[in-house]
Amino acid sequence: MSPQPQAAVGAPLSRVEGRLKVTGEAQYAAEFDVDGVVHAVIVDASIGRGRITGVDTRDAEAVPGVLRVIHHGNAPRLPYRDNSNGSNNPAGRRLRVFQDDRVLFHGQPVAVVIATTLEAAQHGASLVKVRYDAQRPSTDMADAEADEPTRYARGDAEAGLRDAAVRMDLTYRMARNHHNPMEPHATIARWDGNRLTVWDKTQWVVGTQTELATVFDLPMESVRVISPFVGGGFGSGLRCWPHVVVAALAARETKRPVKVVLSRKQQYFGTGFRPSYEYRLRLGSDRRGRLRAVVHEMDAETSSYETFDEAIMLAGQMFYSTPNVSQAYRKVPLDVNTPIWMRGPGFANASFAIESAMDELAHRLRIDPIELRLRNEPAEDESNGLPWSTRRLRECYTVGAREFGWHRRNPKPRSTRDGDWLIGLGMAAAVYDPGRMPAQARVRLDADGTAVVEAASSDMGPGTYTSQTQVAADALGLTMRTVTFRLGDSRYPRTPPHGGSMTMASVGSATLDACNKVRGQAIELAVEDEESPLYGVRVEDIVVRSGRLHVQGDPTRGETYQRLLARNNLTHLQANGSYAGPPDPERHSYYSYGAVFTEVGVDATLGLVRVRRMLGVYDVGRIVSPKLADSQALGGMVGGIGQALLEHTVTDHRDGRIVNADLAGYLVPVNADIPDLKAIYLEGEDMQADPLGVKGVGEIVQVGVASAIANAVFNATGRRIRELPITAEALL
Ligand code: MOS
Repeated sequence: MSPQPQAAVGAPLSRVEGRLKVTGEAQYAAEFDVDGVVHAVIVDASIGRGRITGVDTRDAEAVPGVLRVIHHGNAPRLPYRDNSNGSNNPAGRRLRVFQDDRVLFHGQPVAVVIATTLEAAQHGASLVKVRYDAQRPSTDMADAEADEPTRYARGDAEAGLRDAAVRMDLTYRMARNHHNPMEPHATIARWDGNRLTVWDKTQWVVGTQTELATVFDLPMESVRVISPFVGGGFGSGLRCWPHVVVAALAARETKRPVKVVLSRKQQYFGTGFRPSYEYRLRLGSDRRGRLRAVVHEMDAETSSYETFDEAIMLAGQMFYSTPNVSQAYRKVPLDVNTPIWMRGPGFANASFAIESAMDELAHRLRIDPIELRLRNEPAEDESNGLPWSTRRLRECYTVGAREFGWHRRNPKPRSTRDGDWLIGLGMAAAVYDPGRMPAQARVRLDADGTAVVEAASSDMGPGTYTSQTQVAADALGLTMRTVTFRLGDSRYPRTPPHGGSMTMASVGSATLDACNKVRGQAIELAVEDEESPLYGVRVEDIVVRSGRLHVQGDPTRGETYQRLLARNNLTHLQANGSYAGPPDPERHSYYSYGAVFTEVGVDATLGLVRVRRMLGVYDVGRIVSPKLADSQALGGMVGGIGQALLEHTVTDHRDGRIVNADLAGYLVPVNADIPDLKAIYLEGEDMQADPLGVKGVGEIVQVGVASAIANAVFNATGRRIRELPITAEALL
């Protein structure tokens, strides 16, 4: 077949679902109007560890409208079949709601009150009296014992360090962060006999379907998960949390559809978080700054019942040329709920340590930070010997330095002032390992010349509806208006988690495949149809544009899909498409890259840090949707500014309570914190990566932001802050 003209892909289009969102017509999980729905409010454990010795539900049950109170003492035993493959559950034994008397963390669900109104359920929940045998929880990494580490080594890092001309030993600490999406997590569950339907906020309808099927021991086909709109996720929707099971259990017990909406506070222990880290780096270089050896020791918190693992180690293995590397990644089990991936998972934290350390080394050796990075640029992936698919970091540095005005930076710290403000410039490199996983999609082209494409997928905000419609429209030769993309339903073809920057590559490639097949069917039909003006034309000479098939280079010779299908008495054409995932074994090392530049001002007397401007330059392959890519990039930078300067989940170690579990105490950037942000994407595509040549934008854009800010703060003040968030107190 002839390559299709690209009219939609690459065009700066607005969201196809934008109107639905701004007019309130887009339905989020809690907004579905399910007949006869009742409300459930979860009662959270008020101790950090121990046992429940009694639950007194009498006052709660006396509240008018309360239907049931369920807790471990009266809940049915649930099968909780093994689900280690079909979900994002980490290794361990998942939290089983209301199955025993143990309390594993502060806030764990210990009871649920179901009532005909939300108010009655809330009032009832406030009256449930739970008695505990409480123990002091272990929630402080500094006092807890770590598991056996995951290790990596090449060469002899200790010997390399001993022999190095320059040595540094640096420890960085990163606070726990919470996702805090605008839309709270919510679930409506309804049983029809043995069939379960849930409307849920999730980034993976298939994962939630699998989890519910295993918890209740149902066939997969008996569980349907619907999630057409997700109001932000950043990773918090990547697994099925206990409240989803609570909703399903409550619905089964009351024989009514049940709605659970987590309160803002409950998001902090009812869903996951980015774990806190302690990251020690010992590095050795020669006098010219070439790394000889790096030892990475990473400690991260996990829960007592599951071992959360993320890609914290990869950057240290592949980013800079280093003959001797040794790594130990230790998880520290605490009496907390289980963490989960949060935007730029692993890499956003690894890069804070590594990219801060590179800046420290550059300062010590009086080498420009970009020059130091160039001296350590590896020719191949030294962790596995694979060639890069594309790695255009040098261009990121060059373009970024030029566009940002890097030459204006005075390398001497505390040398630039603007009134009360100390001004500093900083930069950091960014890397992310974007996922690619098998995915499926199906398309139906109707006789009226419109098409519907379906894939389970999700759209938590990056714009899946729009970008997939762009891919489909071009592959089918239709306009954006005549293609509808549907997602967010487990009945649609299976897709991987909507996360890890893999949706465009994976779902997009499946969509492309399905649409190419249908266009191919139509072309075949035309060239074999004696009544078609295209009869006898070679298939590779035909393109489709605005719903009309024609000879390439001769638009007068052709006909529309409508005419072709009508004449052949066809109501539609349809096809299933798939993407098989990356080659196994991989033939290339495949990462997205970026360089982040920032200028900060630090109030010389108050220690207040203000980001003044920021530029990110990205090597992320083809940009399908420039406008949406920009909203990803700018949003990622905002997330990075939060991580750098504000976000910090604080736990009271006496009882394991999160003390700032709300948006008043957990600070996120507001408009006044956000200056001029700009993103540039290197033109081109990565055709080793996937059929679309994309590398994923959504995660990398948070990586490097915190380190660029920390490096700029050092340039401004001469103070090296190795702990996130960087607070005014730390700078006083
Ligand atoms: Mo992203 S942390 O995989 O939602």
